[in-house]
Amino acid sequence: MKEIFENEMKLEFVSKSVNESFARIAVAAFASQLDPTIEELADIKTAVSEAVTNCIIHGYDDKQGIVKIIGKIKENELIIEISDQGKGIENISIAKEPLYTTKPNLERSGMGFTIMESFMDKIEIESIVGLGTKITMSKVIKAKENEQEEFETLTNR
Ligand SMILES: Nc1ncnc2c1ncn2[C@@H]1O[C@H](COP(=O)(O)OP(=O)(O)OP(=O)(O)O)[C@@H](O)[C@H]1O
Ligand SMILES: [Mg+2]
Repeated sequence: MKEIFENEMKLEFVSKSVNESFARIAVAAFASQLDPTIEELADIKTAVSEAVTNCIIHGYDDKQGIVKIIGKIKENELIIEISDQGKGIENISIAKEPLYTTKPNLERSGMGFTIMESFMDKIEIESIVGLGTKITMSKVIKAKENEQEEFETLTNR
């Protein structure tokens, strides 16, 4: 059965690093309907930046391609898919290891996936060599404490 989402958006842009901030801000604007804290929003922006940068510099090797982002909202969960149709990842478990990078000469620290994993609740990597890579990340936006209290007072809990 097809999953039902309360809201959904799709974004496509050319793989240029000037578009990294556009992608980050667009996703943050989409996420803002869940009323995240500044910290949650910063986490989402950082994770999006890491995934988009990876599509541009690794997926397309700085050649021109299209980066796609799909954003979905399901109750209080934000789900973001970021994909490229670039070169793909040969070994996903090695690529995920902290400090592993195939571009050490470009001041890469090999921490992108580790950052995405620590700032989001879940991350899934799908990749086929020669076809591309898709990263699916999700984060539950928690109700703020004072709102929780308000809710509890209203419902007499
Ligand atoms: N979209 C992608 N397409 C192809 N290869 C990728 C992609 N994303 C990541 N990789 C591979 O996985 C490796 C690890 O990625 P990760 O983001 O953790 O580190 P990095 O990009 O090398 O360094 P940093 O993110 O710290 O600048 C990359 O070096 C690259 O080989
Ligand atoms: Mg990276």
